[in-house]
Amino acid sequence: TAIAEAPVAELPAESAAQPISKEVTILFGSQTGNAHGLAKNAGKTLEERGFQVTVSSMSDFKPNNLKKVKNLLIVVSTHGEGDPPDNAISFHEFLHGKRAPKLEDFRFSVLSLGDSSYEFFCQTGKEFDQRLEELGGTRVYPRVDCDLDFDEPAAEWLEGVLSGLSEAQGGSATPAQAAAVTESAESVYSRTNPFKAEVLENLNLNGRGSNKETRHLEFSLEGSGLTFEPGDSLGIYPENDPALVDMLLLEMNWNSEEIVTVNKQGDVRPLKEALTSHFEITVLTKPLLEQAAKLSANKELTDLLSAGNEDKLKAYIDGRDLLDLVRDFGLWGVSAQEFISILRKMPARLYSIASSLSANPDEVHLTIGAVRYNTHGRDRNGVCSILCADRLQPGDTLPIYIQHNDNFKLPQNPDTPIIMVGPGTGIAPFRSFIQEREETGAEGKSWLFFGDQHFVTDFLYQTEWQKWLKDGVLTKMDVAFSRDTDEKVYVQHRMEEQSKELFKWLQEGAVVYICGDEKHMAHDVHNTLIDIIEKEGGMSREKAEEYLADMQQQKRYQRDVY
Ligand code: 2AM
Repeated sequence: TAIAEAPVAELPAESAAQPISKEVTILFGSQTGNAHGLAKNAGKTLEERGFQVTVSSMSDFKPNNLKKVKNLLIVVSTHGEGDPPDNAISFHEFLHGKRAPKLEDFRFSVLSLGDSSYEFFCQTGKEFDQRLEELGGTRVYPRVDCDLDFDEPAAEWLEGVLSGLSEAQGGSATPAQAAAVTESAESVYSRTNPFKAEVLENLNLNGRGSNKETRHLEFSLEGSGLTFEPGDSLGIYPENDPALVDMLLLEMNWNSEEIVTVNKQGDVRPLKEALTSHFEITVLTKPLLEQAAKLSANKELTDLLSAGNEDKLKAYIDGRDLLDLVRDFGLWGVSAQEFISILRKMPARLYSIASSLSANPDEVHLTIGAVRYNTHGRDRNGVCSILCADRLQPGDTLPIYIQHNDNFKLPQNPDTPIIMVGPGTGIAPFRSFIQEREETGAEGKSWLFFGDQHFVTDFLYQTEWQKWLKDGVLTKMDVAFSRDTDEKVYVQHRMEEQSKELFKWLQEGAVVYICGDEKHMAHDVHNTLIDIIEKEGGMSREKAEEYLADMQQQKRYQRDVY
């Protein structure tokens, strides 16, 4: 039976003079893929309600077309110190510049993603929201700022946007069709319905005596229907350290068997399990402290949260966890259920995938650096990395999902040269790239820059790289071992040494990839690239910066940084 098309509702007389467009443009700015996923999902829902929707990355959107847009939805995340994601940079700049158009008869709404443990929470979304208003736009629904646990607020935003747009339409939106929204066509498993993947292999890649511990993990995807491409990431839902959970239970004198409600749907779990798997207990945020202050009228905590103490608050939050909070502010009277209700849901951790599916069918490999440190008088562990390093055996399972990442992809053309810069665990996606190029017989040149502390103990996947170099799958490799010599050598020094050759590759159309530490490495490598372009291209600093910005626009400069 054919499904009857819903009749187009008649516009009320008063709005008939000025029919409002059913066309909606959704632009996303996404670094890890979450904003992208939400934008796609919003697009689908809007289409089901009878709108004509265009979903596009901000970097693919021609700013001049903004004049033609009547309904704009923005889904954007924020990175580092309040920075836009790479694929939002140019549009963000355009909108804030002199060439930005006056927006008339223009409706918009912003969904911003962020992490409330950072100072500049949702900054980029806030900026877009404010700027669109300044340019003359009208909010069809107020901006919603989401924390790591974004599913519910994002769904509320979408509902709000839908009714806002329908109202503007004179209530003419088609009701949603029964078809359920599924996240991916290939697999039933997703971020909200993770697959329990079996661990096949778990090795330490570093040699004896290294300062580092880098785990190589292999998971089975068998039976999941999950697929991925080189450059995608794997999301893992980890468990908290049982020792930390026990300390917290002991400190609060809670009964570990007590049954608590873990979500809005009313699901219940024993307290110990809830603290282990369902909630984040290792990070403090300002909203969390504000809620805690409401539960217990601790004067010191209230003072810390009062105006003028922002720097003190920031310093307190940094590196401390829930156990510190209850100890430092004597929150012992709070009930387990009350406490749990103010915690963030356990967020998934994303890791760049280190294998190619064509080279390793039904498997996914990761390269994870173990994070251990001592601060504020106690040993601390990275939640997921130390679970993997210390407590995960072959045969165990972990909830995982694939996070597609369009921002980090091999060139379509297998002949295009690639330059890969990946010190430390930044090497991961390049192992995937080269496995893929080997498997598919791609003939483009490839050049790897790798760095770590010591050649003898820290050359991750050394034998594989050397074999690929010998076989010609990898064309060139330059390594920088920072602690083998008196003076530190980093990947960017190796790049500088080869600046002529490197610029030649750029002129030949090479794509440059950077993966790894954002704050120091990626920043320094970025500047080195500009140095090289300036010097070898005989350009001014400004022109060299433009050259690199153009490369980014053309997706010839891609970063997967953390
Ligand atoms: P270091 O720790 O000896 O200073 C992987 O962690 C490698 O990246 C290590 O050799 C580390 O050197 C190096 N590294 C640290 N800071 C860097 C930076 N700003 N640029 C490039 N590499 C860096």
